[in-house]
Amino acid sequence: EKGTYPHYMLKEIDEQPLVMRKIIQKYQDVNGQLNVDTEIVNAVNEADRIYIVACGTSYHAGLVGKQFIEKWAEIPVEVHVASEFSYNMPLLSEKPLFIFISQSGETADSRAVLVQVKELGHKALTITNVPGSTLSREADYTLLLHAGPEIAVASTKAYTAQIAVLAILAAVIAEANGKALSFDLMQELGIIANAMETLCDQKEEMDTIAREYLSTTRNCFFIGRTLDYYVGLEGALKLKEISYIQAEGFAGGELKHGTIALIEHGTPVIALATQEHINLSIRGNVKEVVARGANPCIISMKGLEEEGDRFVLPKVNEDLTPLISVIPLQLIAYYAALHRSCDVDKPRNLAKSVTVE
Ligand code: F6R
Repeated sequence: EKGTYPHYMLKEIDEQPLVMRKIIQKYQDVNGQLNVDTEIVNAVNEADRIYIVACGTSYHAGLVGKQFIEKWAEIPVEVHVASEFSYNMPLLSEKPLFIFISQSGETADSRAVLVQVKELGHKALTITNVPGSTLSREADYTLLLHAGPEIAVASTKAYTAQIAVLAILAAVIAEANGKALSFDLMQELGIIANAMETLCDQKEEMDTIAREYLSTTRNCFFIGRTLDYYVGLEGALKLKEISYIQAEGFAGGELKHGTIALIEHGTPVIALATQEHINLSIRGNVKEVVARGANPCIISMKGLEEEGDRFVLPKVNEDLTPLISVIPLQLIAYYAALHRSCDVDKPRNLAKSVTVE
């Protein structure tokens, strides 16, 4: 039930701090240690390469998850769009492990790949919100998102839940291999839950940004580097889906290789700057688009902020910023859709789970 909320999407955005706390609770043992089924930890550890397969928003979460697994657990990861993978399977490593990420657990494109790789005799783990779903039943292992039912077509809380569960999995693997993280992940996720709450309390500001930048525009760019780039892809997808604004997520450094030709006077460019090591470069990219007339909306993070930034996120661990930087983008998409009188919960041409290939 959406209760007093005008839309499920807004309710589900607001639920993200609660979901974070639920995940902390579900993946922690009585001693406060990370708790993931040993069978799963062993299966991941035996793999020489991990293949993440997913669609849409779940694919975007996979891109972030790859960073955790490679950086913390030091296992190579490839991330694939399911519908491409099934017709163009890459050469597989000797001991692959497949991770399927799917909110619904019913997405036909992902299931087609699962059937293919099972036939080849490979092991699969499904990360899903729905216990007993097809992808969960047909895989060898399941990790649940514990996000509660997601009703709005545009996925929000499942995305942050997927990222949190992938972080926990990566941290457990790292620990099992004697590469414990330099920080306490569960404590950081607690800080993130609080930061999410702060952001959810700033709806008016997001409404204003949406009105200012997006109420009449034809198109919009989201730029960033590394993790910020992946979140930009998700921000662009949210905006396309529910407001029908043509939106593109782009790697800041890649713009100059062609796409910058699309920047005109007043084109909104939402830039994420949450990573210290690429702060200078992304700000350089913003200057490049501003020189061509873009209307920049810089979303940075406390400690990295500069004059003129439109919004500053609370400080969280730099590896984990996607968990909070996506929230303004979700809210901006929501308000942009409202300002353009779009049906937020049931956008045209889309269904909640895509059960056809
Ligand atoms: C975007 C969205 C879709 C889904 C995609 C995969 O808001 O909802 O892109 O993420 O169809 O769905 P699941 O995760 O259920 O496999």
